[in-house]
Formats: sequence, C-alpha cells, structure tokens
Amino acid sequence: MKTRIVLFLILSLVGVLIASSGGPSTYEYDIAKLEENENLTSDPAFDKMMDVLTHQRCMNCHPTDNIPKQGDDSHPHYFDMARGEENMGFQATQCTTCHQSENNEYSGVPGAPHWSLAPAPMGWQGLNRIEIAERLLSKETNGGKTHEELIAHMTRDELVLWAWEPGVDADGKERTPPPVSKEEFAKAVKDWFKDGAIIPSK
Ligand code: HEC
Ligand code: HEC
Repeated sequence: MKTRIVLFLILSLVGVLIASSGGPSTYEYDIAKLEENENLTSDPAFDKMMDVLTHQRCMNCHPTDNIPKQGDDSHPHYFDMARGEENMGFQATQCTTCHQSENNEYSGVPGAPHWSLAPAPMGWQGLNRIEIAERLLSKETNGGKTHEELIAHMTRDELVLWAWEPGVDADGKERTPPPVSKEEFAKAVKDWFKDGAIIPSK
C-alpha cells in the first residue's frame, strides 16, 4: 500500500517535471537549425523577425543597387528593370504596367497593390542583421516611421503580406514563402518592439 503511494507520488512528480520543461516555448526552433545558424542572437523575437526580413521575398524589393531581384536566387530583374523615378520604374507607371494588384497565375507576374521598389535608404541587401535593424529603426532611413508605424507596416502592408502568398513564377513554380509563418512573424515584431526594440549585440 505504502509503496504504491510513494510510486504514485514519484510518477506525478516526474509528470510535472516533464510538463514544465517541455511546455510550449514561445518560438519553436529546430535544434539542428539552431546550431548551424550563426545569425542567432540572445533575442529569439529579433531572430524570428530577421529570418523574415532577410528572406528573398522581402530582399528582392529591398536592394542596395537600385535593381529589383527575382526568384530564390535573387537574380537581377529581367528586362534591365531598375529603380527609375520614384521607385516605380522608368516611368511612374512602369512597375504596375506588369505588376497588377494580384498575382497573375498564368503569366507568373507577382502582384499586390502599389507594387514598387523600396526607396534606396530602405535597401537591405548585403547588410548584416544588425545593420538592417539600424536602418529599420532610424527615421533618416525608414521614411520617418515611428515604432507604431513600423509595426503596422510589417503586420498589415499589402507588399509585406504578399510574401506569404507569393504565387508562381514564370515557369509555373511556386515561390518559397518566408521560413516563419505570418502569425509568428507578427508576434515576433510586436514582442521585439514591446521589449524596447533593442538591437542585440550578438
Ligand atoms: C514589391 C516590393 C516589396 C516587397 C515584396 C516588400 N517590400 Fe518592404 N517596402 C517596399 C516599399 C515600396 C516600401 C516603402 C513603403 C513606404 O515607405 O510606405 C517598403 C518599406 C518597408 C518597410 C519600412 C521602411 C524600413 O525600411 O524600415 C519595412 C519595415 C518593410 N518594407 C518590410 C518588408 C518585409 C518584412 C517584407 C517581406 C515580408 C517586405 N518589406 C517586402 C516594397 C516591398
Ligand atoms: C515588363 C513587365 C515587368 C515590369 C515593367 C516589371 N516587372 Fe517585376 N516581374 C515581371 C515578371 C514577369 C516577373 C516574374 C519573373 C519570375 O519570377 O519568373 C517579375 C518579378 C518581380 C519580382 C520578383 C519577386 C520574387 O520574390 O521573386 C520583383 C521583386 C519585381 N518583379 C519587382 C519589380 C519592380 C520593383 C518593378 C518596377 C521598378 C518591376 N518589377 C517591373 C515583370 C515585370
């Protein structure tokens, strides 16, 4: 009788320990990926946010050389397409001549409302995560946006949201979405700003 009670207590204790250690973590990381990813810092929200910002679906529109990029290999845009005036192509209407407000599943031209290239100061390609975060936060380079406006942009802007419904390319192949879900990205962005938008030093 007594041994059964002791056994029961031990088993319950083990149960509690397992439950508390294996409890839902806020950000799920694959351990193998964690070890090989040299970009990881001490701040998981920052890391999640940056996993998205540095993905091709975002980077292709945030170049540092005035040329939009295409595909998962970020090759220069066909037809020598470059920034032009007001980031919209050579003429004000040029990007939207081809890029409509929705993806064109037949031609493979991606689309979302007000399709255009991010202004030069918002270029991130080739920068490291710390440098990207500095550009993101500075009103000199982020288009004068406050923290609230940055959160709103990253969780609601149509060009940002497009990244999770990127459609197919000209060969009919599905474009890869960012490695973090839209919901998890929104949570990471809000958490990072809520905690003071501190750029981790590594
Ligand atoms: C089709 C091109 C395009 C795509 C794709 C795109 N952006 Fe942008 N991005 C822009 C443009 C244009 C602006 C400027 C908008 C403004 O200032 O109102 C911008 C501005 C921004 C800004 C605010 C300025 C800054 O640098 O701090 C952030 C943040 C941003 N984008 C994040 C993203 C993220 C995250 C993704 C991917 C999930 C993404 N963008 C995908 C074109 C794009
Ligand atoms: C002549 C038509 C045309 C014009 C004009 C045009 N594009 Fe494109 N764009 C395309 C086509 C077609 C694709 C799809 C290519 C593919 O993925 O196979 C594309 C793809 C892209 C992509 C790739 C998205 C990704 O992540 O793979 C970006 C970014 C882009 N265009 C930005 C722009 C910007 C910015 C402008 C204006 C400066 C512009 N485009 C003007 C036809 C055009």
